[in-house]
Amino acid sequence: MRRFSAVASFFIIACQDPTTESVDTTVCASGTRWVGGDEESANMNPGEACIACHSRGEGPSFTLAGTVYDESRQADDCYGSVGATVEITDAKGKVVKLGLVDSGSFYSHESLTMPYTAKVIRDGVESKMLTPQSNGDCNACHTVSGVSGAPGRILAP
Ligand code: HEC
Ligand code: HEC
Repeated sequence: MRRFSAVASFFIIACQDPTTESVDTTVCASGTRWVGGDEESANMNPGEACIACHSRGEGPSFTLAGTVYDESRQADDCYGSVGATVEITDAKGKVVKLGLVDSGSFYSHESLTMPYTAKVIRDGVESKMLTPQSNGDCNACHTVSGVSGAPGRILAP
């Protein structure tokens, strides 16, 4: 029995993704935290202002990017939601629908006419941003406690 569990835990450790660690759900509600630094990945740095960093010269240029969470007050690098869709409507009525990567983040290269409106949809229920915005770097406002009037993290309904 003891030998069996030693073998089992060896495999769990061996298969673990080195860019993430498991944490208590009081630390990150999802139980997962990014520890990969600036390792090239769509799951990188959830919760941080993606475009602010990418526009400093490294990483692809996005017109929109951010992270959706299930709970408020989630620290940077906490993984977020699964299974939600972000829907953006630009000033000309162009609609862009974005799925979430494993870390709960989304991003787009689509050209948009500012300002845009945004909503997050899951299981047919939607949560809408009432004020149109002109900055596609969602996490710049949707920080842990929110800046520029944002209520904190972008939440999935
Ligand atoms: C502190 C800086 C920084 C932040 C914040 C950041 N990135 Fe990056 N990102 C980079 C760098 C640097 C690269 C290029 C890495 C490389 O080429 O090795 C990159 C690359 C990427 C790539 C390309 C990966 C690939 O496989 O080609 C994606 C997608 C990406 N980032 C998404 C995001 C998203 C989404 C966010 C926000 C939730 C984000 N990044 C936040 C620095 C950052
Ligand atoms: C310049 C700051 C700013 C930016 C950038 C921003 N937001 Fe918001 N967001 C707000 C404010 C302020 C509110 C609360 C008032 C309202 O609903 O308009 C809000 C509320 C929301 C809500 C409804 C409340 C919630 O969290 O469920 C959603 C959804 C949302 N934003 C999504 C987004 C998405 C997606 C992006 C990026 C494409 C984004 N926001 C970019 C400021 C911002």
